Amino acid sequence: MRGYVTLTLTFTILSLAYALKAKLTRVECLEFDKAFATIPKCYLKALSRYRSAFSLHVALHQVPVTNVSFNAAFFRKGNNGYRLFMYNNTVDFCSFYKNPNRFIFWKIVFFNIIAPSSNINHTCPFDHDIIVEKLILDSEMFKMIPFPADEYMAKVKVAAYNHFKAEIKAYLQISE
Ligand SMILES: *[C@@H]1O[C@H](CO)[C@@H](O)[C@H](O)[C@H]1NC(C)=O
Ligand SMILES: *[C@@H]1O[C@H](CO)[C@@H](O)[C@H](O)[C@H]1NC(C)=O
Ligand SMILES: *[C@@H]1O[C@H](CO)[C@@H](O)[C@H](O)[C@H]1NC(C)=O
Repeated sequence: MRGYVTLTLTFTILSLAYALKAKLTRVECLEFDKAFATIPKCYLKALSRYRSAFSLHVALHQVPVTNVSFNAAFFRKGNNGYRLFMYNNTVDFCSFYKNPNRFIFWKIVFFNIIAPSSNINHTCPFDHDIIVEKLILDSEMFKMIPFPADEYMAKVKVAAYNHFKAEIKAYLQISE
């Protein structure tokens, strides 16, 4: 009986997640240290009512970069603006990439969502510009992270050598 309930629940969550649509609605990029990095490209292109493509170009001016960390937080929209929803944490990218199983959530986000449309799927150091080309969210990506339908914002602050260099905010809408 217990097995049956678990199975049904899992199935319900999975089919719910499958039915959800995820779309990026707005992106914002901020540069904090132009001598280190500039962001000549940061935009969304609408493809349809339910899809948009994110393109990003970060030019690195002091390569190789051997020390990178990300502080990422997910916010959910409430009556008074966006409030922290989960995962405010800082991940050292170089150690993350060596052992992604220690960071399951970031592993899913990085390998399922970011890596396929970017040129950063490799170990440190970074000796080239960072490019994300037409990243499109689809419901497949969210079957592992079934968020309730709502508006969210992901804020990623990128640091090198312990100093914040840039910030990227991506607003997304998850709907049924
Ligand atoms: C996330 O955590 C950092 C340090 O732990 C803190 O400085 C920052 O204000 C937090 N951000 C949010 C949105 O709570
Ligand atoms: C990322 O790199 C790993 C290791 O080289 C590889 O197994 C994986 O398929 C790559 N993923 C993507 C989306 O490129
Ligand atoms: C990155 O730099 C910071 C500050 O210098 C340091 O605390 C951290 O251990 C470094 N990370 C790696 C992987 O070297």
